[in-house]
Amino acid sequence: MATATQTETAKAAAAQKERKLTFAPQFEAKDLVEFDPNRVYGDWRDEFHRTGCVVIKNVISPERARYYREKQIEWLKKFDLGFDEKNPETWTADHLPVSFKGGMYYGYGATHERFAWEARTEPAVIDIFEKLWETKELICSFDGFNISLPNRKDLKWSPWPHCDQNPERKGMQAVQGLLNFAPNGPKDGGLVLMKGSSKLFDEFFAHKREQADHEDAPPPEIQFMDLFLFSDKDVKWFEDKGCELVKVEMDPGDFVLWDSRTMHYAKFPEGEQIRHVQYICMTPRRFATEEALEAKKYCFENFYGTTHWPHCNIRPSDEKPLRNGEVCPKYRSEPFEKPEITDTVLRLAGVKEY
Ligand SMILES: [Fe+2]
Repeated sequence: MATATQTETAKAAAAQKERKLTFAPQFEAKDLVEFDPNRVYGDWRDEFHRTGCVVIKNVISPERARYYREKQIEWLKKFDLGFDEKNPETWTADHLPVSFKGGMYYGYGATHERFAWEARTEPAVIDIFEKLWETKELICSFDGFNISLPNRKDLKWSPWPHCDQNPERKGMQAVQGLLNFAPNGPKDGGLVLMKGSSKLFDEFFAHKREQADHEDAPPPEIQFMDLFLFSDKDVKWFEDKGCELVKVEMDPGDFVLWDSRTMHYAKFPEGEQIRHVQYICMTPRRFATEEALEAKKYCFENFYGTTHWPHCNIRPSDEKPLRNGEVCPKYRSEPFEKPEITDTVLRLAGVKEY
């Protein structure tokens, strides 16, 4: 006979299964915008359309980047777990809120902290996506940020090459980005991109493949990200086709954009530098259905994060962060500092029409 606890667990599992997890899945099978391949833009868009990724320099000032670094450190300290940015002895999970992959923060209302919204609404950041999609009517994802502390002894790390577009979706459907706040050289933790891989996405998946058998697969709580994990053999397939794994090097204030079909992962930091990054994605509002906009409104009002996808594949991430198998005692459902609700914020959130 099942114990009370087992029965409760089974009930919770059944309820979880029945819950609708993703809204507006929308498996479009073509480019959502037809870009003329012969057009010359005379700016970063030429490189982006050629390779599927590009670094854009000096999008915000070094002073502004420092502001975001400080806000991120301040955020870690607000949990009162003894974290001290000046004492690497405290750079362990016990002293930090729960993160994914040693530094990606999505829980605790983090995706709606005031500084996260401030980064999303930096005019020069919005301008990038306006230029890319050639519209001013954009909506954004409610993505997290990354604070990776180097030399952590309590972390086991291995690369997990993946792309954030489901193979059933074809064409350019989403473009991801991150705003970088700290110096990011070859030894520092940061983004590794398989340059050119987005162009081979359809060809690669035309050969029926099973999900890569990865020893470090993402835990169930982030499978909403709709990741496809690549194996070592897959990495070689892309390299044999002329693609190149590139560790993106950036200065504070730089922005990197990549087509969501691009294979990528984060390199573990080997130097002394803390990595500070805000993930930001925007797509045209016209890509979104009413269902997607409603789901976004629900996430916005409840301080839930989403996937990297602004207009579809909306998956409210309302899971409570787990610490040693239990809900983290520092769990909170709201940001410490709520965003200032401006028209820009409401429009990007999809709540207000243009
Ligand atoms: Fe990713």
